[in-house]
Amino acid sequence: MDIVQMRGITKRFGPVVANDHIDFNLRKGEIHALLGENGAGKTTLMRILYGLYRADEGEILVEGWPVRINSPKDAIALGIGMVTQHFALVPPLTVAENVVLGFTDGFVLEKATIEQRVAEAAKRFGLEVDPSAVVRHLSVGQRQRVEILKALYREARVLILDEPTAVLVPQEIDALFETLERLRAGGLSVIFITHKLEEVMRISDRVTVLRDGRVVGTVETARTNERELARMMVGRETFGVRREERAVGEQPLLQVERVCAEDDQGLPALKEVSLVVHAGEILGIAGVGGNGQKELAEVLSGVRRPTSGRILVDGQDLTGATPDEFTAAGVGRIPEDRHAGVVGELSVAENLALEYLEEFARGGMLDREAIRRHAEELIQRFQIKARATDRARTLSGGNLQKLILARVLSRDPKVVLASQPTRGLDVGATEYVRQQLLAQRARGAAVLLISEDLDEILALSDRIAVMYEGEIVGVLPAQDADPERLGLMMSGAVKERQGAYAEV
Ligand SMILES: Nc1ncnc2c1ncn2[C@@H]1O[C@H](COP(=O)(O)OP(=O)(O)OP(=O)(O)O)[C@@H](O)[C@H]1O
Ligand SMILES: [Mg+2]
Repeated sequence: MDIVQMRGITKRFGPVVANDHIDFNLRKGEIHALLGENGAGKTTLMRILYGLYRADEGEILVEGWPVRINSPKDAIALGIGMVTQHFALVPPLTVAENVVLGFTDGFVLEKATIEQRVAEAAKRFGLEVDPSAVVRHLSVGQRQRVEILKALYREARVLILDEPTAVLVPQEIDALFETLERLRAGGLSVIFITHKLEEVMRISDRVTVLRDGRVVGTVETARTNERELARMMVGRETFGVRREERAVGEQPLLQVERVCAEDDQGLPALKEVSLVVHAGEILGIAGVGGNGQKELAEVLSGVRRPTSGRILVDGQDLTGATPDEFTAAGVGRIPEDRHAGVVGELSVAENLALEYLEEFARGGMLDREAIRRHAEELIQRFQIKARATDRARTLSGGNLQKLILARVLSRDPKVVLASQPTRGLDVGATEYVRQQLLAQRARGAAVLLISEDLDEILALSDRIAVMYEGEIVGVLPAQDADPERLGLMMSGAVKERQGAYAEV
């Protein structure tokens, strides 16, 4: 029995056909993966089901009945809940307050009553959350659990998750999958958007693949494999990117000497971190998220001040410098949160010029024509699927990442700081980004690659440093590294000879 049927759904944004006569069925009690390259139309289709967009054509049936979904309120009333990638929680409120927010029919409930109800619901659905905790203090994985609980508390029978694992570390992904399996056993139907084929194979019952706004096909997971899915998704086999062995340069372009820094709570986040990245070298930083990687990237781009230690870029002392000074010294940063690097209301062209506006000034005025030409060139070169005049907020996740990459890499920075550069990207875009990083290495830049994706670290890095609790617990040449050894180091179980490779 299909709990949801979407028939002939079409959605246009100006000339772009984001969804082109899509048929999609969701069975009761199944986990249905929605797969497709960046810009394939997955989010659009789900926003239509959740009432955030109106389809231009097509119809939706819930339990066989035609329905009209004009807002999330309508969707929720029909038992459809959605967890988007950018959580809609209110940080200063508690978990319990967030869960019941907008769902108390105007009654003001006692804090204790709310917390008790939410605790009961959490227990019933097997979601581990502390109802009295303030959301601001929760990890990303915990916030996601609150979002899921919020949907279930509203009696969702259909749960839509848009790239839920993109923001999670491996242990959190395991916990999420256990939760989903339990909820499925309880009769919940789940639509699961992801780019990771391995996750599709692991968690889903069926898969629908979209390409260019159309359905390529729907298959039973048990009857397919990663190769076939990749082929359906991109229309060709993918090969993956590997670096070629080549000698790295002698010249240290980035030197980090015994740097200490604190996190937002004022607790030690970096403990005497020392690193060197040479010209033409990719140094990979492996580690489970939350072990100081974020603070390291911030310290190395001037966003966070170190409490002690030194940072040199091509010999120039930049300790305590501002982000602008880091940029001027030749540090290009690809931030972990791509939405932080882009202004949604500005056009693609304006975003591409963003940090370098002074270069486009002519006699005190901005040269619009030059900004447009510059954008056209980068759109071509970096294969961004968008027009120069499009608002940045309308870009799909992958194209947004390409925009940032284009802005940073087109400046030929001496040092490239890349944090989780392929998170949320499809296989094609991932390959592209990795090739770009290798091209930077070949050009002679020093690349610091911070990634939780071990395959990525192993495929690209010349040397690999492992971070654990704010320390570099070891540095290995790539040829000595394998997933097991790195995994042990990442868990803090092994300390490789600190400093043996870490020093200059
Ligand atoms: N609000 C909007 N205005 C204009 N165009 C849009 C809007 N939302 C989406 N699009 C366009 O519709 C197409 C499909 O986008 P969508 O976000 O659905 O892709 P997606 O499959 O979710 O991609 P990703 O994996 O990168 O998140 C893209 O070309 C995108 O630029
Ligand atoms: Mg999307």
